[in-house]
Amino acid sequence: MVERRSAIRGAVVWEALQSVLHTRRQSLSSARSLQVVDLGGGTGGMAVRIAELGHQVVVVDPSPDALASLERRAAEAEVTVAVRGVLGDAATLLDVVEPAAADVVVCHGVLEVVDDPGQALRAVAGVLLPEGYLSVLAAQRSAAVFARAVSGHLDDARTMLGDPDGRWGRSDPVPRRFTQEELETLLADAGFGIAEVRGVRVFTDHISSLVVDSEPGAAEALLALETAVATHRDFMAMATQLHLLATRR
Ligand SMILES: C[S@@+](CC[C@H](N)C(=O)[O-])C[C@H]1O[C@@H](n2cnc3c(N)ncnc32)[C@H](O)[C@@H]1O
Repeated sequence: MVERRSAIRGAVVWEALQSVLHTRRQSLSSARSLQVVDLGGGTGGMAVRIAELGHQVVVVDPSPDALASLERRAAEAEVTVAVRGVLGDAATLLDVVEPAAADVVVCHGVLEVVDDPGQALRAVAGVLLPEGYLSVLAAQRSAAVFARAVSGHLDDARTMLGDPDGRWGRSDPVPRRFTQEELETLLADAGFGIAEVRGVRVFTDHISSLVVDSEPGAAEALLALETAVATHRDFMAMATQLHLLATRR
């Protein structure tokens, strides 16, 4: 059985992204499919869904294995003509993608792992058309501190609080986590204006999959709750990830 929490984790972001794709398409003077770049798009979970809406997607990723999976996934979904995988990374983005040609850039789960998040966002600004949209999803430090503490890893939680990258130590699999202010500053410094900020996975990671999968109506109720709370300022700090939509100034 597919764990229902996984679908709920991605739902808030997907809804916001679909809305941006729609808005961008509506704003164009002539009807055409959108050009989308998914930086660090990995195995193409997001790219294939975007292609299924009728857009052209280029996935730039340094992992050949991920790009091979992307190819298989696109073939299964019958969108191979709309999805292209390109070996590259944030530092080489402008060498492998045409400058100033993308309507939307997706950058999900990537700022945590790149060498230089500021450089990555400047490269993203370089591939976007003026007034094009950027979708950033990144791990939030405050929620990770909370999660470590409530799972009994109290020293780790305190280490994370004082660590400049928000890590609990060398065995932490995430190289870097952000505060909302850090993400907003990085985006502003790279020439973006922030349009929307959402908290993602405010409650989902703290609720047992047993409850969500076995209690009638629980998955639907959790999804409705996550959607309602995503833009609620009081709960933003509890979100495992922050989703920011920004436009190139
Ligand atoms: C956590 S995964 C996120 C994958 C996908 N974007 C998602 O949201 O499911 C991080 C991805 O970033 C890629 N990556 C690692 N270093 C990178 C870099 N320097 N520039 C761009 N992508 C990178 C990895 O290969 C991997 O596919």
